[in-house]
Amino acid sequence: MFLLWHFLALPLLLSVAAYLVFRWKNRRFDRISAELQGPKGYPFIGCGHLFIGKSNEQQFAILNDITKTYPSPVRAWLGQKFVVFIDNPEDLQIVLNSPNCLEKADVYRFFHCEKGLFSSPASVWKVHRKLLSPCFSPNILASFLPIFNLKSAILVQRIEKHVGRKEFKINEDIARCTLDMICATTLGTDMDLQSDEGTEYIRAIEEACELINQRVFKPWLHPDFIYEKTKNFQLEKESFEKAYKMARKVLKLKQEQRSKSKYVPTRAEDEKKPQIYIDQILRIAEETDIFDDADIRDELDTIIVGGNETSAVTLSHVVLMLAMHQDIQEKMYNEIVNVIGSQDPSIPVHNDHLANLNYTEMVIKETMRLFPVGAVIGRTCTAPTKISKATLPEGTVIILGVFNVHRNPKYWGPQAERFNPDNFLPERAAERHPYSYLPFSGGPRNCIGYKYGLMSMKIMMCHLLRSYRFRSPLKMEELQLKMSITLKVTNKHLVQIEKR
Ligand code: HEM
Repeated sequence: MFLLWHFLALPLLLSVAAYLVFRWKNRRFDRISAELQGPKGYPFIGCGHLFIGKSNEQQFAILNDITKTYPSPVRAWLGQKFVVFIDNPEDLQIVLNSPNCLEKADVYRFFHCEKGLFSSPASVWKVHRKLLSPCFSPNILASFLPIFNLKSAILVQRIEKHVGRKEFKINEDIARCTLDMICATTLGTDMDLQSDEGTEYIRAIEEACELINQRVFKPWLHPDFIYEKTKNFQLEKESFEKAYKMARKVLKLKQEQRSKSKYVPTRAEDEKKPQIYIDQILRIAEETDIFDDADIRDELDTIIVGGNETSAVTLSHVVLMLAMHQDIQEKMYNEIVNVIGSQDPSIPVHNDHLANLNYTEMVIKETMRLFPVGAVIGRTCTAPTKISKATLPEGTVIILGVFNVHRNPKYWGPQAERFNPDNFLPERAAERHPYSYLPFSGGPRNCIGYKYGLMSMKIMMCHLLRSYRFRSPLKMEELQLKMSITLKVTNKHLVQIEKR
């Protein structure tokens, strides 16, 4: 009898008590939970059971399924969190601009970058963002042009070995190039990362993203004390160490340079120079108590992953789309040659050229419509917030469905799934709700590097297309998507290249 009580009845009683406490603490969600529709949830795991044993591809498909089955806004419990999914432009606009929704969702802490812009609490984010925004001014971006040209030319050389051979996965070459660019520009350090050294970082970032994504959909792994006991935690730790090793190396180098330098420029002199991200952070840290060691480390890690992975994945998608749509590729090639005035890929791209590459920009934008790297974005409500059909109580996790709104026929017409850069003709764009297209998120907490991203991608495309013609054995209808923090193509970016 004692054994029965000990092993069965006592745990059961404790579970019931824990559940009742949980229900009481979350009673503010009872009303909205009854008002909105969504999948059935169970105590403690909510709808987490739907994702058990599923791959990243399947998880993405299930998420899409749920959001198509129930009318927006969709509600769900994911573990202990009350979640509302929205995907209509009006609500997206409200949430992205509301001072009540500046806080990121709890799962952003899985990146271990709590003081970096991407995942920091709103109070820290406001101060950092104001100080770091000048590092992306038009003048500073223009000063990066020679680096973008040089690194793109190296990419062209590195893939030359594939000319006339069978298809290869171009994404890793592109990722090494974007990483090389980020280090040489925002970190102000040329590390020649298109060699094998770059591969180690790229793979580490990819592995870490896969593991974090798995954790996001398994609410029972959200508490750190449980996750820290798993094998994935160890694997993730190793991946992060490898991924962030380079930022540590650059930081050490820069700190040594600054401490050895006898000449300390005045603030006014310093401000006249391009505000390289890392220099700006180190200068503020020396002059004020705003950036401590953890802030510096987290901001650099954020920029390495945020700046590299996003542009690399997007540009790989652009190349794949062009390889699948020969007519669009030729039109873009002709524009590039006309604007630069030469087919010779060794002629560098200038700032004046960029504003005239209108079709190129339309192609990049259309690619980001169908394949937004930030397919969903997560925020937390810090005060009751009214959206079109409900008032979200404090503590609601809001999932913003960027992928859904980008493919909704209501805003993109009956052929919303088709790749068509003409969607971005000025007259068509003017007719659409501005929040029906959010590749860089929106509102005050949007992507800080979006101009950098667009500029570097345009320059890379000018070099690639003047050197090669791309083809792919893949068809649009064969592409399979998965979430691995960023949205990726499972089939990989398989392309063949021919010399122009
Ligand atoms: C194609 C290129 C890019 C795309 C599609 C992209 C997309 C995004 C998106 C969707 C977000 C919001 C994420 C969220 O709230 O969950 C974001 C934030 C951010 N991105 Fe980008 N990004 C790109 C390039 C870059 C580059 C080149 C950099 C830096 C050099 C950068 C740095 C950041 C940072 C620091 C944040 C956090 C901003 C904040 O919360 O204040 N991104 N990006």
